[in-house]
Amino acid sequence: MPGSRTVKQDYYSQSDVVAGYDDWRFRSAGGRYVDQCEQGRALFWLNFLQPHEKILDMPVGTGRLAHSLLQQGFTAVAGADFSPAMLEASAKRCGPQLTLSRQDAFATHFPDDTFAAVVSLRFTFHHEELLPLLQELTRITQPGGLVVFDTLRWTPRSWLGWLQKPFGGRIWSHNEAQVHRVLAELGLTIDGMDRILLFPSFAYRFFPAPILRFVQTLERYLPPILRSKAVWAVRKGATRDQQ
Ligand SMILES: C[S@@+](CC[C@H](N)C(=O)[O-])C[C@H]1O[C@@H](n2cnc3c(N)ncnc32)[C@H](O)[C@@H]1O
Repeated sequence: MPGSRTVKQDYYSQSDVVAGYDDWRFRSAGGRYVDQCEQGRALFWLNFLQPHEKILDMPVGTGRLAHSLLQQGFTAVAGADFSPAMLEASAKRCGPQLTLSRQDAFATHFPDDTFAAVVSLRFTFHHEELLPLLQELTRITQPGGLVVFDTLRWTPRSWLGWLQKPFGGRIWSHNEAQVHRVLAELGLTIDGMDRILLFPSFAYRFFPAPILRFVQTLERYLPPILRSKAVWAVRKGATRDQQ
């Protein structure tokens, strides 16, 4: 049986999956809301960087975050992905300002300490183990630099087989204690962690507008501990001010 890494690489290399990626996830009102929440938290942390600092978005996918970073005035944005079709989609969306390369996120060709920040959205939950990915992201981040990533706190897709197959294989949730252990092992310090989205993101695309408004109200009043996703901003070693 192919390992989960290969399953994900193959799934996202299919041209029909790439062609429908944004529409399926982010076109509905609920999908746009998910997109805003996810990107909003990542951009909040990345906006502490200077515009000329090197940022890597990996996996870049169709370029949704890379495009926002370029629009915000960042001038040294790189994107990397394993899927040639994804790289093509992000090149089309972002233009020549985005430097793209094909990489395996677990073993990239980037030298040590290359980027001031590395951001990885919607990727950790495709893999059971967090350590190998975060280790590689840490290696290529400059000392004092930032790693931003999200984890799933809970999702029925990690329990229900029939929800996994059509969407490219198994999904894993990671509890906060697990993440803390891996961060400690890698010497990463936490700048911040935000819990977002009461329900797993895939559910939002099915919410009609009144339900979406109701869910948004619940999100305002229910405790964040119930939310399904965490966005982490962690630093390699000491903060830059402490060096
Ligand atoms: C769910 S998408 C996330 C894309 C983007 N970060 C976003 O938030 O929209 C997962 C991405 O991981 C890429 N991918 C899968 N395995 C990979 C690997 N081993 N190395 C690099 N990219 C990989 C896929 O091609 C796909 O673009």
